[in-house]
Amino acid sequence: MTDLPPKPQPRPDRVSLWRYLRLFRRDILSAQPARLYRARMAEFRTPFFRSFMLNEPDLIREVLNIRPRDFPKSGRISEGLKPLLGRSVFLTNGAVWERQRRVIDPAFEGGRVRDSFAAIWAAGQAATARLAPGVIEAEAEMSHAAADVIFRTLFSIPIEDEVAAAVFSRFRAHQRGQPILNLAAFVPLPGWMPRLHRPGTRATARDIRALITRLTNARAGAIAAGTAPDDLATRIMTTADPETGTRFDAAEMVDQVAIFFLAGHETSASALAWALYLLATHPEAQERVAAEAQRLDMDNAAFSMVSNLKFTRDVFREALRLYPPVPMMVRETTRPEVFRNRPAPPGAQIVISPWHLHRNDRHWANPDAFDPDRWQTDAGRGAARDAYLPFSAGPRVCPGAGFAMIEGPVLLAQILRAFHLAPVPGAVPVPVAHLTVRARNGIHLRLARRDGGAGASDRARPARRAPWRRRYQPSKSTSSMILNALARRSAIVFRSVVSGVNVPQLLTNGEGSAPARTGNSSFRSA
Ligand code: HEM
Repeated sequence: MTDLPPKPQPRPDRVSLWRYLRLFRRDILSAQPARLYRARMAEFRTPFFRSFMLNEPDLIREVLNIRPRDFPKSGRISEGLKPLLGRSVFLTNGAVWERQRRVIDPAFEGGRVRDSFAAIWAAGQAATARLAPGVIEAEAEMSHAAADVIFRTLFSIPIEDEVAAAVFSRFRAHQRGQPILNLAAFVPLPGWMPRLHRPGTRATARDIRALITRLTNARAGAIAAGTAPDDLATRIMTTADPETGTRFDAAEMVDQVAIFFLAGHETSASALAWALYLLATHPEAQERVAAEAQRLDMDNAAFSMVSNLKFTRDVFREALRLYPPVPMMVRETTRPEVFRNRPAPPGAQIVISPWHLHRNDRHWANPDAFDPDRWQTDAGRGAARDAYLPFSAGPRVCPGAGFAMIEGPVLLAQILRAFHLAPVPGAVPVPVAHLTVRARNGIHLRLARRDGGAGASDRARPARRAPWRRRYQPSKSTSSMILNALARRSAIVFRSVVSGVNVPQLLTNGEGSAPARTGNSSFRSA
């Protein structure tokens, strides 16, 4: 199959506020007009807030790399995540955030990621062993695999561990109850006003945090007794902030473990599932990955083998380009700003959209096509410097980027070494933005063993549905009812002003400006 990989249908250019809000609630990606893929910047004005989507490398650098302190993370988007994540590094800003990164970052730097290789490899072998010929739902399988990677690397326990399995299953329940877009993302709420979380959201968040507390308390005891394994949890819990000398206390560590689990498994699972789909639909690329994987020495798994997975790594990068797990990031202005001659007031929402940037044809040749070979061309490398942000950039870049760029290719190679993948006719996945970019009805693939074990009975096997798997179904929450009522009453026409389509082209190789710090550069150094 050589058709272009699936992309959501964009909305018409002009829609009413009411329609926009409905589309937005259903899926942020299809709620945007097609011209955002080309625009350098877009301004959205609603009665509730102003927002600016920046789609040009220089503007993005200004926000993420050059003046990040002037553009803190937007509190509105964090609202829905607070019950689970507390004051974790993902949500904090300013001095609190800076201290948290000083403690966390050393655990992920260069050589330390290498120390996680054995655990990543073991989780990949376990994931491959769980797979069987027949039809699978790849998102569920990859969520299981990525959660296993996180528990093994953080706490040296597999996903089968009683507490790890309970966190994983409560987390799925939490996701079903938690609206991806909270009312607070639209309307600034005063701090004293109770937040509108769905029934059960606070309860599942409390359960997950109680389970994580058991893990961190046990680890604190092991560290004190000198029996703790050398894993990410021990490294983070024993690292003192070089500036203040303080370590994370028990509550802070629970916040951080919650975000490592969430950020570390949801994102990798999304990228792996899309990468498997792309390989299933591009047989020639699939065979090249399988050939690379066949050359791995399975009896002597070592970190050095990652450098032999060159094409597999380019496939993973290309999957991150086409389906960036974090499709948009939101920051806030703290003072009056001007973007491309448009004034932005303090408190305006700044949206940086890897989803749109990665498919912008001013930077990428044939942007909607799956072409892993582009990563070895000058044009591809130039575009990667300027217009590739799967892990964000600047000081707030994903600390797990280097880790993910090992995990992704290794798991792909392990799976492709064992199985041949094919798409299921008629089951074309439609990307939608949940917490990460997922497929509306899952990603169904047919697996056959590469060693010739794909018999007729394999092909007849029905789709397996993992027991924990139930898809997130948006339902009528209090917040959506209020939104609907607001939109109906106001009948205000939503104005979206897209600027810059006709202005002179910017140099796409970033001449004269600092290259964005992207995650794949940390992989190169690995
Ligand atoms: C393919 C896999 C991954 C992708 C695409 C990804 C992407 C991202 C992105 C885009 C951000 C910035 C979000 C924002 O600024 O709004 C981020 C932040 C973060 N990621 Fe990842 N991530 C991945 C894997 C991981 C892993 C494996 C870990 C940990 C083990 C991790 C931990 C974090 C943390 C703690 C943050 C918050 C950083 C901060 O705000 O200072 N991520 N990630």
